[in-house]
Amino acid sequence: MADASLQRPEGTAEDWTIPQDWDRYSPAEHAMWDHLFERQAGMLPARVVPEFMEGLKVLRMTRPGIPHFDELSERLMKATGWQVVAVPGLVPESVFFDHLANRRFVAGRFIRTPEQRDYLQEPDIFHDVFGHVPLLANPVFADYMQAYGKGGLRAHGFGSLDSLARLYWYTVEFGLIRQGDALKLYGAGIVSSYGESIFALDDPSPNRLGFDLERVMRTHYRIDDYQQTYFVIDSFEDLLRQTVETDFAPLYPRLRNEPELATDAVLPSDRVYTHGTQAHARAKSARSASR
Ligand SMILES: [Fe+2]
Repeated sequence: MADASLQRPEGTAEDWTIPQDWDRYSPAEHAMWDHLFERQAGMLPARVVPEFMEGLKVLRMTRPGIPHFDELSERLMKATGWQVVAVPGLVPESVFFDHLANRRFVAGRFIRTPEQRDYLQEPDIFHDVFGHVPLLANPVFADYMQAYGKGGLRAHGFGSLDSLARLYWYTVEFGLIRQGDALKLYGAGIVSSYGESIFALDDPSPNRLGFDLERVMRTHYRIDDYQQTYFVIDSFEDLLRQTVETDFAPLYPRLRNEPELATDAVLPSDRVYTHGTQAHARAKSARSASR
């Protein structure tokens, strides 16, 4: 992910990449990857979009443990022309977008500790690689990610990165997709989290609303807990088409004149799959208020 206020750390290349240093991972770190991988790969098949399970094959490396980015990139390159490159952590938006626009996905190289197994604030290699890479092996989603990067480079000039970041958040990170009568997971933030993989589909708390590009770009999101609203796309093709066909230049000034929407808002114009109880979010704020 991205942050504009960053200085390039010493030892990083011009494009902020660093070597993965695969040989430096400890046996405990490889074991953590294998544990997380098996846990998610075991619980996801009935919940996740089939394209994700298909893409997961790319991650089944020739040896167990944390994937070596060279081997991973070689496989991904064959599938869709994408690569995975290591970065030290958050990178500036322009760097992030430039990598995406050139079909390079930036990934953290550290892995969570046992204490962070179920929650960590900064994305680690498990989130970045297990969560994001499988769909980068899907040609349509791979094109969407590149289109997003190109859109980001253009949006820079409009000062509209907040609304564009919401599009990424509610699709790439926390998106749901409708398949027949069922909703399925595809967002990387969900599929790399055991708890949210259950919550996002099964819990009565969050809203589940039909995806609408402009509506999404007006909606705040949470970075400290499960989402209060998930947006449901009809297909990856539809998401790509809307992103490529939308002229963002006149959209940004228009969005600035529209009110921003709260994380739990439900509008009369929304296509509602679930009008959530928001019980989870309420219980959480009650707990923090009583501290
Ligand atoms: Fe992510």
